[in-house]
Amino acid sequence: MTSKTRTLIVGGASGMSKATARLLLEDGGSVVLVGRQRNRLEVAQQDLAHPGRVEIAALDLAEPAAVRAFSARIPTEFPDLTGLVNGAGVFLPKPFLEHAEEDYDRYLDLNRGTFFLTQAVARAIRRLEGSLSDDLVSPLCKAAGLKPARAWQKFEREIAGELPDTDMGF
Ligand SMILES: NC(=O)c1ccc[n+]([C@@H]2O[C@H](COP(=O)([O-])OP(=O)(O)OC[C@H]3O[C@@H](n4cnc5c(N)ncnc54)[C@H](OP(=O)(O)O)[C@@H]3O)[C@@H](O)[C@H]2O)c1
Repeated sequence: MTSKTRTLIVGGASGMSKATARLLLEDGGSVVLVGRQRNRLEVAQQDLAHPGRVEIAALDLAEPAAVRAFSARIPTEFPDLTGLVNGAGVFLPKPFLEHAEEDYDRYLDLNRGTFFLTQAVARAIRRLEGSLSDDLVSPLCKAAGLKPARAWQKFEREIAGELPDTDMGF
């Protein structure tokens, strides 16, 4: 089976997001890999080995101005997005008592970027007026056989509830 999906994959240079990209490519879709380091994105693009169906875009989600600039590009450069994988994350395995303010900011800055990029992609998908049936944020969890964390489930349900006229599934 093949599909005409075009999915923005944040964190797509590695890990679960890259594995999700591979599955979507095998299904006939195309992907846009997003991450901070262009060289890692280029390596992933080569490795995924689907010329013409893997684009890359460097973006640091923790930089509000960069997220705004990237979001502004979506309507013209990626107007036909059908899905989003939010796979970038911070993992700082430190005891609670050792966390510094910078650590706290790292988590929140990334969450802020994730929120507003998700909003920008949701707007793009909505512009397609329900002509899609792909997932907005959960393909990564599905691919990994995981249930999204409760906060994610709530986030997803809230978005779906506010966009009933689209066919966004989670
Ligand atoms: N793997 C697991 O078993 C597991 C289990 C539970 C939870 N998680 C969480 O799930 C998430 C993904 O896991 P993973 O194993 O796939 O991790 P991973 O291989 O480290 O992938 C994370 C990706 O996010 C990108 N990234 C990080 N910060 C970014 C930023 N500010 N802006 C844009 N891209 C950014 C990284 O690329 P650049 O560095 O080039 O930006 C990297 O490609 C992480 O939050 C992890 O803590 C993982």
